[in-house]
Amino acid sequence: MTQLVSDPLGDLDEVAAQVADGHSIPYAWYGSPEVFRFEVQNILRQSWHVAGPLAKVARPGDHFCCEASGVPIAVVRGQDDRVRAFVNVCRHRGYQVVRSDGNRRALQCRYHAWTYNLDGTLKGAPGCELDPAFERDEVGLLPVSVDILAGVVFVNPDPDAPALCDAHPTIASWVTSLQLDLSEYAHLKQTTFQADGNWKLVYENASECYHCPTIHPTSLTSVYDPRGEREICDEALVVAHAPRLDRGGRGIRAIMAFPGFVVQQDDYIGVSAQIIADAPGRTRLVADLYANPDCPEGEIAEHTSLWERTFDEDMDVVEVVSRGVTSGAISFGRLIAPKEERTVHIQRLMVDAYRQAADALRAT
Ligand code: FES
Ligand SMILES: [Fe+2]
Repeated sequence: MTQLVSDPLGDLDEVAAQVADGHSIPYAWYGSPEVFRFEVQNILRQSWHVAGPLAKVARPGDHFCCEASGVPIAVVRGQDDRVRAFVNVCRHRGYQVVRSDGNRRALQCRYHAWTYNLDGTLKGAPGCELDPAFERDEVGLLPVSVDILAGVVFVNPDPDAPALCDAHPTIASWVTSLQLDLSEYAHLKQTTFQADGNWKLVYENASECYHCPTIHPTSLTSVYDPRGEREICDEALVVAHAPRLDRGGRGIRAIMAFPGFVVQQDDYIGVSAQIIADAPGRTRLVADLYANPDCPEGEIAEHTSLWERTFDEDMDVVEVVSRGVTSGAISFGRLIAPKEERTVHIQRLMVDAYRQAADALRAT
């Protein structure tokens, strides 16, 4: 029996058996503050997140801010051309050092003007010479893990995290075979979508297209053919491919990784997106949209609108589902495994992640 004494997750062996039997994870996991705390501390803050387009840090001094599971993060390209990422919290009194995208020779905190070099070391702090015990070396910005793939910057709040391609061993080969590369696409804009619902509902919904014909008839499925979707699941990845209805061809290709990032593109438009868990019942989807420089102007506006409508529809679904699963009226859902291979896969990934995290906790 895999059970922690004060474990809000309950008996994980029982849940695993339930999932193997074609059922969902317990609905109680979608609303419980204890489960949420467990996830944030033991899963989400040790996971890779999409930070944003590599194009935002193209030149030395370029920087942007993002967030990874409640941790504010600054991504910076140094004078040595290296891309680094830091906890975006001033070591003085906690103000956010980087407040917007830009280019600087140093990063100055607006609160009391402590200034950091682009490699995160403290350059100076007004009045620090008055304190003989003040050690500059001890108060640099805290580094986090950073990686780059397909023209996208990824971050992991855990500074000792395995590299992205070690955490997701087949991701690089999928990126190559699906021809995913946003490095030549121009960044259009970042949009945030919000839902009053648990992050797992956003993740589950984004990983399946069973709902596409009913929820997205005038958005996603008016352009892409969900029936033509090819999907292959391995370790923590979901891979999808849907041809365009009008042109066929390569269509849209996507990878989605547990616990919550997406990179996708077709010949015109690209999206990198990150699910951000704010609270047990509140989630954001932060999406960066990109365009192929050869994409006709009219197509850009049309595709931008298409994806924004699609994400809005998805977030609406999440809110309605959230009210159902957190009502306490039903304990779990029944899935159709042959049809919902990806959803079943996701349920297994979650149980495995909880089990690993619980085992790691028990070992400490
Ligand atoms: S909090 Fe940054 S300088 Fe004071
Ligand atoms: Fe959807």
